[in-house]
Amino acid sequence: MSTAVSHLSPEAKASLPQHVAVIMDGNGRWAKQRGLPRVEGHRQGAESARAIIRAAGELGVKYLTLYAFSAENWNRPKDEVDALMKYLVHYLKTETSELNKNNVKLEVIGQIYRLPDHVQEQLKKAMHTLAKNNGLTLVMALSYGSRIEIVEAVRGIATKVKEGKLDPADINEQAISQHLWT
Ligand code: IPE
Ligand code: MG
Repeated sequence: MSTAVSHLSPEAKASLPQHVAVIMDGNGRWAKQRGLPRVEGHRQGAESARAIIRAAGELGVKYLTLYAFSAENWNRPKDEVDALMKYLVHYLKTETSELNKNNVKLEVIGQIYRLPDHVQEQLKKAMHTLAKNNGLTLVMALSYGSRIEIVEAVRGIATKVKEGKLDPADINEQAISQHLWT
């Protein structure tokens, strides 16, 4: 069977990026151009994500970060947020065995605690199933925002200082990095 990687020259293979990040966007516009409801765009977006995950795995990319749902996306109409959560759960339920076959590991970043309980449960289940895999690491950014990540890191560090567990003089790059999501 021909795979994405079999088409590459040795030079191209050697220069593959370690980490690819994809910001999922334009689902709504894609649907609008076709006279379809926005949710149809989200469904198609999930299909595209599936193709990207498979290709990244075949190519030997080490990390693929998918920015699937931002912290700002909570401001969308409830129906749309619900539909996005539904697709996420559906994707996890139907694709985990395929991801497992392809040796994909799953990690999440973002305010996971803001996701509905059943979504968090499904994520945990999938991460558990895929935990031992060592091929592609798929990082799903959910309720993610770079500023909120910094806010939460600073809050975590400040709490440790207040509790006397951390000396302000020991706040260095490593300490900050330990409080970030990745
Ligand atoms: C990306 O597409 C999907 C999510 C962020 C959940 P959009 O929904 O942002 O689509 P546009 O930008 O309105 O076309
Ligand atoms: Mg958009």
